[in-house]
Amino acid sequence: MVSGGKNAAVAILPAALLADSPSVIENVPDINDVHIIIEMLRYLGATVDFRDNVMTIDPRTADKFDPPYELASRMRASYYFAPVLLGVFKRCYVPLPGGCDIGPRPIDQTLKGMRTLGADVDTPGGVIVGSADELIGGDIFLEMPSVGATVNSMLTAVSANGTTCIHNAAKEPHIVDLANFLNSMGASVKGAGTDVIRVRGGRHLHGANYTVVPDQIETGTLMIAAAATGGDVVISGAIPTHMESLTAKLLEMGVHVSSEDDLIHVRSNRNFRAVNVKTQGYPGFPTDLQQPLSALLTVANGTSIVTETIFESRFRFLDELRKMGANSRVIETTAIITGVERLVGARVNATDLRAGASLVIAALMAEGVTEISGVEYIMRGYEHFDEKLRSLGAQIEHVKDGDLAAERAFLPNI
Ligand code: EPU
Repeated sequence: MVSGGKNAAVAILPAALLADSPSVIENVPDINDVHIIIEMLRYLGATVDFRDNVMTIDPRTADKFDPPYELASRMRASYYFAPVLLGVFKRCYVPLPGGCDIGPRPIDQTLKGMRTLGADVDTPGGVIVGSADELIGGDIFLEMPSVGATVNSMLTAVSANGTTCIHNAAKEPHIVDLANFLNSMGASVKGAGTDVIRVRGGRHLHGANYTVVPDQIETGTLMIAAAATGGDVVISGAIPTHMESLTAKLLEMGVHVSSEDDLIHVRSNRNFRAVNVKTQGYPGFPTDLQQPLSALLTVANGTSIVTETIFESRFRFLDELRKMGANSRVIETTAIITGVERLVGARVNATDLRAGASLVIAALMAEGVTEISGVEYIMRGYEHFDEKLRSLGAQIEHVKDGDLAAERAFLPNI
């Protein structure tokens, strides 16, 4: 069963502060990034309850606009609070975000969007400091379809009087989910999921009951894990149309994939063809699935060429896979991966969230035991990852704080 989307939840939860009454948000994944957002919401004065994946956020007690560095610097999405606090308090003081170290992650497009709508905003001393007596709708032209800048432009635009058009917007499922949540609060956001999003801002927003979309990247990670282990797995609670670019690649590799309603059936005999992959914004192949798929390609027949166009440091995990016997070399933004007959267990280190997932996938394919450190990265974004894989038959356990041990596995059924 797929959990709620991480990248949707981390945008929706701060947005709940824009309302004048409580929101009840269901299917919120119980992951470390969500716990950091809860700490930030509570620091800002909101009343938050979180149990059984349901979060209630009462924004009426919020009275601060300056989340502390210790929280904001621990994750990427913390800067989604900047436009929200600007809308609510007419000012914000939000330390620059952290997040996975996968290459430079500038925020120039976010600042441009906020300035276009009338905010006086800059980053002196590593803090997003903004103020605006009144925000006014306008045309925001993003230089690239950035997820973060699209989220922040939408979150600024709902508080701006008049119409805002966000051009060259990102189209990811989490963008659509945030727009749906804002609309259920009384906002008018149209066109999310296309290149141009139109927001009629300045409306009164109320609390809403909402259910977070299933996690596209977790779904893909489980599909790849199923293929990697030669399993026969049905993944439930998914949205198959979000998975088309991955499904097409897996079919090209010789994996059987079919879907019906919210079920995706993956079956493989571990005899994979090499394929070429290039990461792109949605509906292209997601950068967040590049690492898990690359792990699979290390045992494919032939040579695969993987081109990473979004984040330049997203090939570092290949150094770890080489310790397990993988054959790959990286030239700038391209990895050339030549399939080997088998991987062998080793001690490896996860350097970011999706790198961690890809090491688990490699471990499930490898002969012998693999010990993975840096597992706190995986816990940031995958809910009960080891439990889910264990329930499918994988031998995987936490051996000590922060480490996982995984053995070659076969994932036989649902
Ligand atoms: N970029 C700029 N300027 C900006 C914004 C982005 O040059 O102002 C560039 C980035 O350097 C990058 C590209 O544009 O090369 C795309 O970055 P984007 O802003 O889309 O990424 P993000 O918002 O920082 C989100 C996800 C990432 C995911 C990317 C791409 C969240 C919280 N994070 O990051 O998720 O990889 O979009 O889809 O939504 C993950 O979940 O593991 C993860 C890293």
